[in-house]
Amino acid sequence: MTPVLELKNVSKTFGKKTVVDNVSFSVNSGEIFGFLGPNGAGKTTTIKMIVGLLSIDKGEIIIDGTSLKKDFEKALRNVGGIIENPELYSYMTGRQNLKIFGRMHGSIPKERYDEIIQKVKLSNRIDEKVKKYSLGMRQRLGVAQALLHNPKLLVLDEPTNGLDPAGIRDLRNTLKEYAEKDGLAVLVSSHLLSEMELMCDRFGIIDKGALTDVKTLKDIRLGKENEIRNYEFDVDQLEKAFGVFEKYLTPGNPKIVDGRLSARLSKEAAAKLNAKLVKTDIKVYSINQASHTLEDEYIAATKSEQIH
Ligand SMILES: Nc1ncnc2c1ncn2[C@@H]1O[C@H](COP(=O)(O)OP(=O)(O)O)[C@@H](O)[C@H]1O
Ligand SMILES: [Mg+2]
Repeated sequence: MTPVLELKNVSKTFGKKTVVDNVSFSVNSGEIFGFLGPNGAGKTTTIKMIVGLLSIDKGEIIIDGTSLKKDFEKALRNVGGIIENPELYSYMTGRQNLKIFGRMHGSIPKERYDEIIQKVKLSNRIDEKVKKYSLGMRQRLGVAQALLHNPKLLVLDEPTNGLDPAGIRDLRNTLKEYAEKDGLAVLVSSHLLSEMELMCDRFGIIDKGALTDVKTLKDIRLGKENEIRNYEFDVDQLEKAFGVFEKYLTPGNPKIVDGRLSARLSKEAAAKLNAKLVKTDIKVYSINQASHTLEDEYIAATKSEQIH
């Protein structure tokens, strides 16, 4: 499958500061890609290059097979985006806003307006002035604007900023529907992990201009083969089981936490210790492995203490 969006070793420098540093990733048709990172990491700068608002210093950006550097207009025909906030005229109605935007694209068939208005669920409010819209409705109108010309790629820069939980859920459902039904490729940036966790299929974390390995949530949860994880054993004889663990592990590793035996182990070590317990006539009711979360991944990538 050829990706809809492909970044190859993209860099951007302002003065002496490299703000985007050799970034490569791709987004496929039908996929929602989460572009995560703290403030100042380089998300907006990367996105501005993708939507043609900033030039590319090094590397290449390819949209639906066309390089932005080689054929700017053709490449951008397949991109719709909202950077920072949707640009709307608040004294006009939603429909008037869409019409103005549509004219910039040349010929948008009349039916397309009704279709998109319905899709973003604004049919019964579209002829009201935008100043009466909630933030969530404005965001939906922004999505309608961005998708009016039927692009293959939608780029959203921090779209959930300021949205309430219902607004965030609406946006998530709208994007998922487009991705699943129409095969739209979506790139969405954010520093809000819990929202992205529910919305995205794959993640890349950017910090100080550099991107980590791109992973799915499953990759993150499973971690590397035989990585050391925290395990918890629920047993019938806690003290005796602790004695068994002490015999095989370094002091300080095995602990009793909330009535369970806990230790940092590899998968293999956990299985071996389980066998030892059973051999000593200790009943093992359950073994829990702590899984890696998107938050763990983010903190490891950004070394950030504070997250939202
Ligand atoms: N036009 C510009 N000139 C100089 N520095 C800039 C410009 N735009 C952004 N920067 C700097 O680039 C870095 C990344 O910014 P940005 O891409 O906006 O990050 P993010 O969107 O991840 O918060 C920041 O340090 C910012 O101050
Ligand atoms: Mg930004």
